[in-house]
Amino acid sequence: MRRLVRQFVRIETVAVLVTAWLAGALGLGLATGAGAVPTVTLMTLGPILGGLLLLSRHSLDLASRIGNLDSRTNATLGAVRQVGAGIEKEIKKELRQTFRQLEALQNLSAVLPSSEVLPATRVWAASPDLLVVLVDLVINERPSLVVECGSGASTLWLALTMRRFGIDGRIIALDHDPVFGGRTRDLLARHDVSDLAEVRDAPLESFSLDGETYSWYARKAWDDLTGIGLLFIDGPPATTGHQARYPALPLLSGSLSPAATVVMDDLVVPDMQEVLRLWLEAYPDFGSEILPLEKQAAVLHRR
Ligand SMILES: C[S@@+](CC[C@H](N)C(=O)[O-])C[C@H]1O[C@@H](n2cnc3c(N)ncnc32)[C@H](O)[C@@H]1O
Repeated sequence: MRRLVRQFVRIETVAVLVTAWLAGALGLGLATGAGAVPTVTLMTLGPILGGLLLLSRHSLDLASRIGNLDSRTNATLGAVRQVGAGIEKEIKKELRQTFRQLEALQNLSAVLPSSEVLPATRVWAASPDLLVVLVDLVINERPSLVVECGSGASTLWLALTMRRFGIDGRIIALDHDPVFGGRTRDLLARHDVSDLAEVRDAPLESFSLDGETYSWYARKAWDDLTGIGLLFIDGPPATTGHQARYPALPLLSGSLSPAATVVMDDLVVPDMQEVLRLWLEAYPDFGSEILPLEKQAAVLHRR
């Protein structure tokens, strides 16, 4: 019935039917001499029936639109719920992460109390969870030489560890950017640990390794280093070139002490994962462990 009404009840069809009805009723009235009242009554029925037909069609259209609206509303609500669940998951993840970093920072401040203002961590600087790992390595392994690729907050925390735990060692941090290198030097001076940590300006220069060309810290800045106990690779930044940190192991592996620990930050970056894969392929005597930290880090040792 609904299909029939939808198919046939249109304004043009109804107009034609009503006109025919009026003409038919008038003709019938005149032919039968039924008189004015029955003829007009019969004629009136036409527009009334036409109106009812149009009304039923309109009601059907309205019902169908309401039905569509209902399913669209459900679809929209479903999408909103999905987005809400995604946001909730992200917020929970971020809260967990923030708590971990605060916990690590609290841990660092308790182990290495400082009367001077400390630099910001995270983003460009190492995150507190990695700083805890580095500080712990220095306390336990007591390296006589720590080399850092990329200076900053980490240089200070490492120097503070050396001072607090009376470790007979020093830190050499390489920085390709003289502005950031200068800031790290100021930071070390402010905390009175310049005697323990040195920041070397090391503009990037070209190196050819296994047929590939890389930009890495100038040779003159690291050529004299031997017996590295801890190598922390947190630079150069990925923005300086493809696989920017790859040269670290090929160029410094010969300067590592036999029991050295190598730490590379930022394994969340696919380029760094590729660097790690290439290292493990080229240096099968090294094994690695991935630390599930904020930015993920790899810890490598000779087997
Ligand atoms: C990942 S950062 C090294 C961070 C350092 N290990 C620390 O914990 O603070 C690598 C290099 O990026 C540069 N850098 C540091 N902060 C930066 C910033 N906010 N914007 C651009 N480059 C920055 C510095 O030259 C630094 O040597």
